[in-house]
Amino acid sequence: MFSSPLLISFSLFLSLPLLFFFAPQILPPNYFHFRFPDELDDLSLFHKATLAYTHSSPKSLSHLATINPKPKIAFLFLTNSNLSFAPLWEKFFQGNQPLFNIYIHSDPTVKLTPPGGVFHGRFIESKKTHRASPTLISAVRRLLATAIIHDPLNQYFALVSQHCIPLHSFNFMYNYLFKNQLTSLSSFSSTQSEYRSFIEILSDDPNLVERYGARGDNVMLPEVPFEEFRVGSQFFILTRRHALVVIRDRKLWRKFRLPCLNVDSCYPEEHYFPTLLSMEDLKGCTQFTLTRVNWTGSFDGHPHLYTPPEVSAELVYQLRQSNSSYSYFFARKFSPDSLIPLMDIADDVIFRY
Ligand SMILES: *[C@@H]1O[C@H](CO)[C@@H](O)[C@H](O)[C@H]1NC(C)=O
Ligand SMILES: *[C@@H]1O[C@H](CO)[C@@H](O)[C@H](O)[C@H]1NC(C)=O
Ligand SMILES: *[C@@H]1O[C@H](CO)[C@@H](O)[C@H](O)[C@H]1NC(C)=O
Repeated sequence: MFSSPLLISFSLFLSLPLLFFFAPQILPPNYFHFRFPDELDDLSLFHKATLAYTHSSPKSLSHLATINPKPKIAFLFLTNSNLSFAPLWEKFFQGNQPLFNIYIHSDPTVKLTPPGGVFHGRFIESKKTHRASPTLISAVRRLLATAIIHDPLNQYFALVSQHCIPLHSFNFMYNYLFKNQLTSLSSFSSTQSEYRSFIEILSDDPNLVERYGARGDNVMLPEVPFEEFRVGSQFFILTRRHALVVIRDRKLWRKFRLPCLNVDSCYPEEHYFPTLLSMEDLKGCTQFTLTRVNWTGSFDGHPHLYTPPEVSAELVYQLRQSNSSYSYFFARKFSPDSLIPLMDIADDVIFRY
């Protein structure tokens, strides 16, 4: 004979697996996707940034307009090693103090020598990043969110890496982005919808089919049909409006955060941003990047790495040139020891204009 408390416990015990089995059907579909502690603090950061964005709308900034503040460029450094070109960037930023902010996301598992000067204290709360995983997307979203919260005057967000170098002076870039005609933030904010993001968005890449299927057949559906899947350089300059689109997104992130089954075709950060922005606001994007990269003779997904003997004024002029009416702002990748010859031509060539 079973005593009834024992019977109750026993039937409860039996029903446990049933609960696990049915829970995904009873609970809202994204319940299980956002239970990872690692993502909870990101979500809270993105939430804060969304609120900060709302409170920094052109209207609420009108009190600032009385002191006539100028819009700023937020430089987002994504790195997993030393910022070897810090002295070159230091020269780039020199004398432009109120017009920029710097934010650095650096893999905390890597020991690096913190650069001083303008980079001092500019490290944001970071997490481990590695290739062929969505961790690089998360790092960029953290940079965007932190920059939105930190300063309402950040109106453009330029993502660069430790291998990137500037190809022009700060003034050249600033005037190009803000079109030479701006005198104050209020005039920028009221026309911001006319300003566009510089992000490459391509739909005709030969690797697209493989890259789309990297997480398994039909895994990206229904949120991302193949016809909407895009590719582009990881390095972009986004408007504040688009930075918000990126940190608010959950729909596409739910798919892009899934691990790849085929690691050889796994470059989530080259797809997430172009796909999202092409779906949300293609017209608001120039569809080209301002960061030059040389894919000739690339190896294992790495582009050509420029070394000291290649550095010259001619190389800088060549790297600036595009097939269109714009000029490239940044170039990658450069080996750390390229710093010395680059510093030699910094004043006369790179920052001349
Ligand atoms: C950074 O540079 C220091 C020397 O300045 C070196 O000891 C360290 O190994 C470097 N870190 C990496 C990740 O390359
Ligand atoms: C691109 O890299 C190749 C070597 O892989 C080199 O021969 C070529 O000169 C580079 N192009 C430019 C514009 O630097
Ligand atoms: C310009 O177009 C030519 C021909 O399509 C191509 O070979 C070259 O790489 C392009 N240059 C740049 C800077 O995109």
